[in-house]
Amino acid sequence: MDDFEKLKDKISRDKHFSCNQYKDPYLKRRFAIRMRATGTKTYRDYIKALDTVSDEYQVLLDVLTVNVTEFFRDIGVFKEVEGVLRSVIKEKQEKKQNNLRIWSAGCSNGSEVYTISILLDQILGPKIKNFKITLLATDIDDASLQRGREGIYNPDILKGVKSTYLKKYFEKTDDGRYQVIAPNRKMVTFRKHDLINDRPQTMIDVVFCRNVVIYFSRELQETLFVNFYKSLVDGGYFVMGKTETLVGDAKDKFSPVNNKERIYRK
Ligand SMILES: C[S@@+](CC[C@H](N)C(=O)[O-])C[C@H]1O[C@@H](n2cnc3c(N)ncnc32)[C@H](O)[C@@H]1O
Repeated sequence: MDDFEKLKDKISRDKHFSCNQYKDPYLKRRFAIRMRATGTKTYRDYIKALDTVSDEYQVLLDVLTVNVTEFFRDIGVFKEVEGVLRSVIKEKQEKKQNNLRIWSAGCSNGSEVYTISILLDQILGPKIKNFKITLLATDIDDASLQRGREGIYNPDILKGVKSTYLKKYFEKTDDGRYQVIAPNRKMVTFRKHDLINDRPQTMIDVVFCRNVVIYFSRELQETLFVNFYKSLVDGGYFVMGKTETLVGDAKDKFSPVNNKERIYRK
């Protein structure tokens, strides 16, 4: 077994974290980030660092899971989100408007945005044709965006998808994976966008930015939350990650809709 394999094996044994869910080039890139940071030159030295440098294991796991996502992640949030989408649509119908703009910021491989597409189809049914829906999914990572465009997923990130939805919105591929059906794929625009350096989107009805800012400094989080506020139309909603906290000026600007599920309103 070479040292790279030994490192993978150690992580699996010590942390019950299956490195095999990732491709080797991805793992090598992520290990390299931490090896640079810890000043270790070989996998063998990095194995030692994992046992001796305090917190290094945790930091490595964070770096490895940075793109982690799944359909209907934190199911309770999506129960609430369904309610939010119903209210937004109802208000639009009352105002005789038919445009709907939703932004998944830090979309990873698209699981979140396709979850939203499923909910919209469930809520609107055939009336979905009467709506001009923009589902914008942005990320800084090209490989994630490409996976999103393809919309093909391993069963492990589809655990939260009801069997009726799995039948209706996915097609099984020859190699046992699942592809989101074409109508839902066509609803989504994947675009490269850096939350830190690029201009925020505008006129958005609902912004999802979940499990992204957690890796950013507090100062940056404050700036981004205010940017999301500005991106929204009046009355628009902001959905954040379950373990994230609204901080800075945005905390006073937004009204809480559901504090537990981290849903706020402009
Ligand atoms: C853990 S995933 C979250 C995916 C999804 N929102 C969810 O909650 O399941 C975090 C994503 O944020 C992206 N990201 C990190 N820094 C970013 C930045 N500066 N601009 C845009 N996306 C970024 C990463 O590439 C990654 O795909």
